[in-house]
Amino acid sequence: MANRKPFVGGNWKMNLHADEAASLAKQLVDSLPSNEKVDIAVFPAFPYLASVGAIIKDSAVKLGAQDFYFAENGAYTGEVSLSMLKDVGVEVVLVGHSERRHVLGESNALCNEKTLAALNAGMEVILCIGEKLEQREAGQTDAVNWGQMALGLAGVTAEQMSKVTIAYEPVWAIGTGKTATPEDAQKAHAAIRNFLTFAYGEKVASGVRIQYGGSMKPGNAKDLVGQTDIDGGLIGGAALKSADFTAICEAAIC
Ligand code: PGA
Repeated sequence: MANRKPFVGGNWKMNLHADEAASLAKQLVDSLPSNEKVDIAVFPAFPYLASVGAIIKDSAVKLGAQDFYFAENGAYTGEVSLSMLKDVGVEVVLVGHSERRHVLGESNALCNEKTLAALNAGMEVILCIGEKLEQREAGQTDAVNWGQMALGLAGVTAEQMSKVTIAYEPVWAIGTGKTATPEDAQKAHAAIRNFLTFAYGEKVASGVRIQYGGSMKPGNAKDLVGQTDIDGGLIGGAALKSADFTAICEAAIC
């Protein structure tokens, strides 16, 4: 894993009501490893950001948001701005999660607007990329990843890349129980880093953390994060159980 500090995110998606979210947050505060060796963030649903934020406030866990809109304010019914997220203590945001791209129809152009706005607002960004099954079968994995990075990161400076994490999440592996083999994942991650080297030079690229996401569980986490270019994970299903998420965070410290 080179010298990069691993980063594990728990994406709670549209799950957990107030009492469940609070109870999971409390359990995590008690069980998660300290932040010296691993960065950890959780991404609750919007209505519970403030209440979960209050629980994890003095812990090693950062508060993250699953989405936002890039404009500062105005007539955008249903949307939430970065400054509103900052108000409730959000430090890190997801951009371009595959469910937003493929279920909610977000384009690369929108992901780019969001990435730029979040970085300009001083937030950390996790830019999610990854190929669909048919693209993988057509041998397009690297092309899809490079395209999503080229478009999503357009205009992001080398300096700003210190606040960017890439989450490689093959769409066919998300929530399906199917995981990329550690070797396949490493191959995709190495190609992602090659793109970053091409775009930003070796020094910047070697510092960027690349998370793997897609059915990461306690049982496969160690083999995945043991790969040279896998620097943690973005966890969905297994992030809803304190014991599983804690085990994955511990596995990331290796
Ligand atoms: P999963 O989700 O771990 O349930 O596959 C990962 C993600 O969507 O970030």
